[in-house]
Order: sequence, then structure tokens, then C-alpha cells
Amino acid sequence: MIKVAPSLLAADYLKIGEDIRRVAEAGADWLHFDVMDGSFVPNVSFGPEMCRRAATCGLPVDAHLMVVKPEKHIETFAAAGAKIITVHAEATVHLHRCLQQIRAAGCMAGVALNPATSHEALRYVLGDFDLALVMTVNPGFGGQKLIPACIDKVAAVRRMLDDAGLNAIVEVDGGVNLDTAPRLVAAGADMLVAGSALYGAKDVAAFIRGVRGEN
Ligand code: DX5
Ligand code: ZN
Repeated sequence: MIKVAPSLLAADYLKIGEDIRRVAEAGADWLHFDVMDGSFVPNVSFGPEMCRRAATCGLPVDAHLMVVKPEKHIETFAAAGAKIITVHAEATVHLHRCLQQIRAAGCMAGVALNPATSHEALRYVLGDFDLALVMTVNPGFGGQKLIPACIDKVAAVRRMLDDAGLNAIVEVDGGVNLDTAPRLVAAGADMLVAGSALYGAKDVAAFIRGVRGEN
């Protein structure tokens, strides 16, 4: 079963509550919540208070921390209601400890990889995460085009998990639309983040079904 996580980054911030309810009613599985610090990525986005409000919508909040030293913010986002917390392998010196910290905070632990980072970054933490997030664009902005080379990485991550007998979620983020989704799913993705294409769709429920391959 392919799951879909709308990215709040592409919502209308003047009616964000309505935009969360809309995607929940359309059948979204998680709410993808992008946290940017202006340092790990050039952009700045949402903080913990917005997370706390978004978490009241009922969908599990999937917090994607694009921040340096994410270990400083894990308990804050867990307390703000995030159910999944994903940190970038490039953003922390102590990835293993960070993943343990996320699980100790009661959340699912995710590792994100920038486009230029090898899937091998996951090798020695296999079993310590519940989700691998393959970035298919450079993090920081919505509305970018998917980088095709990253599709091979999705397949490499899935293979690595299969070989280890693990069934962690393989999430992809960036440039997901009705055209790219089937290729990502074929490569082994089972959780698709979609921002601009989803919020820009006339019929969000049909878009979600389309991304899942149900249309
Ligand atoms: C990018 C964010 C994404 C972004 C995806 O740094 O991590 O979650 O919202 O946006 P689209 O789907 O428009 O590429
Ligand atoms: Zn994201």
C-alpha cells in the first residue's frame, strides 16, 4: 500500500487549518512538516508552535528537520506532537545517537539523505531507523524538479533494507507528481511526500489516488 504525505510547505498560510483539513479529508496518510533553519538549508519555515497546532488535525505529523544539530530539537518536536522525526545524515555528527534519542522520545526515527549523499550512509545504522527519506531535490524549497539520479538511490536503499531483512519505510521527498510517482514506486518507495503538485491539484483526493496508482 502506497502512502501519501502532503507537505504543508505548499499550503496557503493564510488558511492553513483549512488546507490541513482538506488533505486529511482527501485521504492523506501523514502530514509532512518541513522545518528549516536558514543554515542547513537557505530557507526558514515552521517551528514547534506550528507543529503543535498542525498535530491537532488528527493526521500523524511527519517532521522533517532540515536543521543543523537536529539533536537540539528532538524533544521539542516530540512534545509538539510529531509522531515521526527525520534528521539529515549530513546535519549531525552523531547520527546513531540521534536516532536513539528520537525513539526514546517515543517517535518513529527517520534518516534523510541529500541528493549527493550515498545510500551507504545508512549501512551502519540499519535497524536503528524506522524510515529512510530519500531527497529527490535539494532540500530547502518546494516546487523543484525531481533529480532523476535519485530514483536509483531509492532502489539502492530498498535493496539494502531487503538484504538486511528489514522493512523500514522508504519515503521520497521532492518533485513528486503523477508523472514521477509510478517511477518512484517501481523503485521501491512506499511513502510519497507531495507539496506543490498536491496542493496545486484541482481534485486532491484524485491526486492522492493517482499517486497511489489507484486511478
Ligand atoms: C523541500 C521539502 C519538501 C517540499 C516538497 O526541501 O523537504 O517537503 O515541500 O515540495 P514539492 O513536492 O513541491 O517538491
Ligand atoms: Zn520535506
